[in-house]
Amino acid sequence: MPLPAPEPQPQTAKSQRTFPRKIKAGFWLVGIVLLLLGFASYQSLREFEKIVTWVTHSQDILEHLQLVLSDVQDIEIGLRGYVITGKEHFLGPYKNGLDGLNRDRDALAAIMQKTPQDLAEHVRRHEALNILIDRKLFLLKAMLALRQGIPYQSAHMEVQMTESKEILDRIRLIVGDMQQREKTYLMARERQAGEKSQSTVRYFITGLIMELMILLWIVRQIRQEIKQRKQAHDELELRIQERTAALIDSNERLRELSHRLMNVQETERRQIAHDLHDEIGQSLTAIKLGVREAHNMLKSSPLSTLLVDSLTILDQVIEQVRNLALDLRPSLLDELGLVPALKWYMKRQGERAGWETKYAAHLRESHLPPGVGIACFRIVQEALTNIMRHAEATHVQMSVTQQEDYLLLVIEDNGQGFNVEQAKTHARRGISIGLLGMEERAKLVGGELTITSSPKTGTRLTASLPLVGLNPHLTTSEARLA
Ligand SMILES: Nc1ncnc2c1ncn2[C@@H]1O[C@H](COP(=O)(O)OP(=O)(O)OP(=O)(O)O)[C@@H](O)[C@H]1O
Ligand SMILES: [Mg+2]
Repeated sequence: MPLPAPEPQPQTAKSQRTFPRKIKAGFWLVGIVLLLLGFASYQSLREFEKIVTWVTHSQDILEHLQLVLSDVQDIEIGLRGYVITGKEHFLGPYKNGLDGLNRDRDALAAIMQKTPQDLAEHVRRHEALNILIDRKLFLLKAMLALRQGIPYQSAHMEVQMTESKEILDRIRLIVGDMQQREKTYLMARERQAGEKSQSTVRYFITGLIMELMILLWIVRQIRQEIKQRKQAHDELELRIQERTAALIDSNERLRELSHRLMNVQETERRQIAHDLHDEIGQSLTAIKLGVREAHNMLKSSPLSTLLVDSLTILDQVIEQVRNLALDLRPSLLDELGLVPALKWYMKRQGERAGWETKYAAHLRESHLPPGVGIACFRIVQEALTNIMRHAEATHVQMSVTQQEDYLLLVIEDNGQGFNVEQAKTHARRGISIGLLGMEERAKLVGGELTITSSPKTGTRLTASLPLVGLNPHLTTSEARLA
């Protein structure tokens, strides 16, 4: 089954690119609105503060105008009492009034100095008030002097009393006017203060609504993104599942193919071994008998030496053909089973290589599942060949035992060892096939194979091959062959 081609995901990729930008922009907007809000609030508060200062200023003016007026009235009443009755105690309120007037006038002057330029009319009134008060004080002092009999310039009681009264009326008028104006200012400023506080609240509310809207927009974007990513994730998951299924399927097929190939290989090996042994081997033996006969007949002939040489070569060829046939497929394996075949093979290789060998086998079941026997034998063949070719070992031991429901094969040598991972990497690059072939054989029957070794230590190979359950890759005919 062909693997599905990876599908492009333009929408998701685009949204993944724009999403952080959108969120960043959203937060920038929140920040800017907050900044503007803060600035507007600060400005409003400053203006509000100014208005409050002016309100206090107006209240101070009103209060001090009232105080100045009552001081002037106190002085007037005190002096009139004294002038009419001649009693000294009336001069008490007069003097107190004078002190209070000085103090309150100074305070009023100080406050009026802070009055803004655009209220020049107001300031002029204050100046007029001061002139009237000064005149009033002058007249009162003159009246006091007259009453006390002190000669005083232009002192004429009646005239002065009349003028003094007029001045008091004018003072009242100016103070009333100033108070009226100040009240108007006060009201205007209070109204302004109210408007300012209202506009501040409006700024706040508008800002908050904007912040809320931006935040809602951000939340919406995040939710949309999460939804999109979840969708993409689900789609990806689905595709992964599909591709995994396809991969499993193609792996299955590969394994099946590999199994079939091995079986075909085994069948062919058996056939070739059979042909070598039965056809070529027997023909060679027949030739050998013929040559020996000829040699016996021509013992004294000069051809005799030639025939002896031919006989020696024939013996070697017969031995080679025999070995070839045995390596291809030992008949012992088919006839007597795995344990005797392994024992024989171990002995044969040990003798060839000059190893000291140990072999132990404990198998309860004589009938191994299809494929397991031959897999085990081929693993042993490759392992012992490797020891012979690479290990430089002197001791080799092998055991085949039955553990629960699997067959455990262990082969150990005391050779020079090797770096297993490195050797496997080389093997995957196609430099060798022995190690991978052993692993593949074990896997094909549902088992596994591990090799532990490191340079300068010996090597230990362990293969566990399951004894229960028929390998699903084997057909009945293949099972019979195996
Ligand atoms: N028992 C062993 N002792 C020491 N080295 C070993 C042993 N078994 C394998 N090796 C090392 O591992 C390498 C890989 O082994 P592998 O069987 O895959 O390849 P190979 O024997 O060199 O060639 P082939 O593909 O013909 O089997 C060997 O070249 C060898 O260096
Ligand atoms: Mg090898």
